[in-house]
Amino acid sequence: MTSTTVPHNLLTDNPELYEARFPDPGRLAGRWTEDRLRRHGAGPRVLDMGCGTGRDAAHLHGAGRTVTGADLSEAMLAHARTHHPGPEYVRADLHGFDLGRGVFDAVVCLDSTLLYCHTNDQLDAFLSSCRRALTPDGLLVAEMRNGAYFLGRTDLLDTPTVHSFTRQGTVHRSTTTLTVDRTAQLLRRTRVWTADDGSAPVEQRSAWRLLFPQELRHLLAAHGFEVLELHDGPGPRTEPPWQEGRLPGATTDADRLHVVARLNSTH
Ligand SMILES: C[S@@+](CC[C@H](N)C(=O)[O-])C[C@H]1O[C@@H](n2cnc3c(N)ncnc32)[C@H](O)[C@@H]1O
Repeated sequence: MTSTTVPHNLLTDNPELYEARFPDPGRLAGRWTEDRLRRHGAGPRVLDMGCGTGRDAAHLHGAGRTVTGADLSEAMLAHARTHHPGPEYVRADLHGFDLGRGVFDAVVCLDSTLLYCHTNDQLDAFLSSCRRALTPDGLLVAEMRNGAYFLGRTDLLDTPTVHSFTRQGTVHRSTTTLTVDRTAQLLRRTRVWTADDGSAPVEQRSAWRLLFPQELRHLLAAHGFEVLELHDGPGPRTEPPWQEGRLPGATTDADRLHVVARLNSTH
């Protein structure tokens, strides 16, 4: 069987597969986010940028917030409206969006979605858009891979990662290879999907920006944000994972990065 390179993302195009591949039954990501918002006194109106299947947006809605979930994928938005109702779901591009001026108390951007801003221009456009969308003292809460993790470490690069899971009787297997593109400062991912239902293997390519903690701090400051937290955990995707009451650490050494920043109205 030959593999096909498709421009789409299998998981983004199949939200149910996405949730099966990345289960979060305890809603850890949503709970961690709500904890950050509460700890820093965010008002009720929240934009979940790159909301995906809507799980976290719906959790924040359940916590009493007025939530807008935004994503570029129509499939994700349709899934979110059906399976995680409560928030309003709209189509918007991370690389520049305008959902109104000063209409959100917080923007959240989870699971490395921010790193789909590959270029400096895209990062600038994202932060400018957040700034327009936020109230003068609005919060930005983001959680992502840590580019600095790859300085001097190759454990995630040396061997492909194989993961399999069963959904509706079909075993799906993904083999993921990561490479560093130092020129573009991107972590490039090639993922080959196979399933035991006789379908042809599918190869998909994607990339995340390798963003370094001090670079992020500088970008945020340049866009008028004061950094309140910047650390490698604990968070919803760290080992051990975050638990209620656990305070943020002070290092940015491990493979996840968590940031909370406040728009500085005097800027
Ligand atoms: C890794 S998923 C994370 C989804 C969700 N935040 C979560 O934590 O489960 C990344 C999401 O970003 C969306 N996305 C990718 N590029 C985007 C863009 N340029 N604008 C808006 N959303 C984008 C994808 O459709 C996908 O739903």
